[in-house]
Amino acid sequence: MPETKLVVNGEERTVDVDPSTPLLWVLREQLKLNGTKFGCGIAQCGACTVHVDGTPVRSCSTPVAAADGAAITTIEGVAGEDGTRHAVQAAWVEHQVPQCGYCQSGQIMSAVALLRDNPDPTDADIDAAMSGNICRCGAYGRIRAAIKSAARA
Ligand code: FES
Ligand code: FES
Repeated sequence: MPETKLVVNGEERTVDVDPSTPLLWVLREQLKLNGTKFGCGIAQCGACTVHVDGTPVRSCSTPVAAADGAAITTIEGVAGEDGTRHAVQAAWVEHQVPQCGYCQSGQIMSAVALLRDNPDPTDADIDAAMSGNICRCGAYGRIRAAIKSAARA
């Protein structure tokens, strides 16, 4: 099996799995980073969102070989090295966004990418950036409010 090299949350990791293995399985099963969730498995819900070289991707539908040599950021790598919450995480707490919480790591990863690229998003910008992240609990209002809070922060 060819080795795949990843830099995950700043740490070099080498995995020895079939190249077609979804990145999500590698993160959860090989690297034990269980914050990233499996929802639909077909790139439709966003629960599995991580950043690959800064771009939000659906890790359930990304073969690990496609991320060879890339920098991966998961929800475990969003906070500062000293554990300080990212502004998005702090806003999520402030607004008590999660209900069941299952979709939330994916929501946060999409929100972090949105604010990095667009620090002052309009409602339409937020809706466009977050439209691929489904919340079965319907926390969309709180998600939008938290993104605006994080933008102000
Ligand atoms: S689990 Fe990947 S998009 Fe739903
Ligand atoms: S908080 Fe339950 S699915 Fe989003």
